Amino acid sequence: MKIAIVGTGYVGLVTGTCFAEMGTEVFCVDVNTEKIENLKKGIIPIYEPGLEDMVHRNQQAGRLQFTTDLTECLDEVEVLFSAVGTPPDEDGSADLKYVLEVARTVGRNMKKHILVVTKSTVPVGTAKKVRRAIQEELDKRGVEIEFDVASNPEFLKEGAAISDFMSPDRVVVGVESERAEELMTRLYRPFLLNNFRVIFMDVPSAEMTKYAANAMLATRISFMNDIANLCEIIGADVNMVRKGIGSDNRIGNRFLYAGIGYGGSCFPKDVKALINTAKQNNYPMRILQAVEEVNDEQKSLLFHKLEKHFNGDLKGKRIAIWGLAFKPETDDMREAPSLVLIEKLLAAGCEVYAYDPVAVEESKRRIGDVIHYAKDIYDAVVDADALMLVTEWKEFRMPSWSAIKKLMATPLVLDGRNIYDIKEMEENGFIYHCIGR
Ligand code: UDX
Repeated sequence: MKIAIVGTGYVGLVTGTCFAEMGTEVFCVDVNTEKIENLKKGIIPIYEPGLEDMVHRNQQAGRLQFTTDLTECLDEVEVLFSAVGTPPDEDGSADLKYVLEVARTVGRNMKKHILVVTKSTVPVGTAKKVRRAIQEELDKRGVEIEFDVASNPEFLKEGAAISDFMSPDRVVVGVESERAEELMTRLYRPFLLNNFRVIFMDVPSAEMTKYAANAMLATRISFMNDIANLCEIIGADVNMVRKGIGSDNRIGNRFLYAGIGYGGSCFPKDVKALINTAKQNNYPMRILQAVEEVNDEQKSLLFHKLEKHFNGDLKGKRIAIWGLAFKPETDDMREAPSLVLIEKLLAAGCEVYAYDPVAVEESKRRIGDVIHYAKDIYDAVVDADALMLVTEWKEFRMPSWSAIKKLMATPLVLDGRNIYDIKEMEENGFIYHCIGR
């Protein structure tokens, strides 16, 4: 089978590469010439463990090709995935201009049946708009060609994208015809050979599933952050509470970690978009409004703890930050709590020395040299008045505390991810603050 994936962002590139790995012939299409030229040379625009090797392998095997010209491959493919961006509008709703542009290009150029699958996270009702956009172009041409639209939301996590895609918990597909269902079944069968879990449903339900999943996960996080803040006030330990409730099968033990708020390209954007869809339909999403509010406040929590420790006097303080990426195993800083923290620290007159194993280049691109970049965890803490742990990278888990204590000006650690043991930190001579313990 031959397929095209339009949009070589995170989802598009991973999707295309993983389908190729399973033997499908894939054309990855993007309007960004520089990106495509780089990809042709095997230069990957994102950091994602395992992706680079897989791209190279499939390129060499001839199963994975990159192009800027969608019309070039349109006649050859049976299925086209649209994985272009849906950035938030001024009001937070998803902007569909790229999604609809792909649809119009398909309508203007298709010569035979094609299944157009939307992979981007899009509001309920988008598939209808895609269908209409294609049909309008066909009408303009005065031709009648059959086509199908489908919705196939993506659930992969950055940093674990390859394994999430290769062995998904489930694949959700919204279809309107048997032909589309048959094509999608053929395409996904290799991924789910032993445990076939493609859940077919109507298109609006598939579109809604993606938002509901992300909103539910974001809700768990904000809920746990709320519980953590209360634990702190009344003298309970959120880690214990997490273990206590997570062992209930109905609750489950994942996505219950309190911290300094969720970031990334999905949760913040999708929560906003769902609130907006609801508002447009005169239904207030009260829970999600609170989820967003808690998350916004949580991102400032570590700063407030620092401010409290120094009685509001932060001018001239030297602060070490470990971790800039919104989570480990990625260089992505979209909506990262580190950005909120850095802004507040700088506004308060602090000097910031940050270290991240992969996100330094990305940080320089975003905020430039307003902060200093350290070469490793120890370099970051030299003469520091406080160390703030923002991203729970593995290499931060077992540092030499005796070396760090000697390097720091004040032995103060603020842990935004609860990765250290309170007793051990105190035994090592640190003043240690964490979240909800
Ligand atoms: C998420 C969804 O998990 C994925 O299914 C969807 O396709 C895209 O959005 P991603 O944004 O890559 O994936 O990251 P994820 O690992 O889900 O983490 C999101 C944010 O939540 C991070 O900022 C993380 O630090 C935070 N988080 C996660 C917590 O604060 N506590 C937790 O228990 C889990």
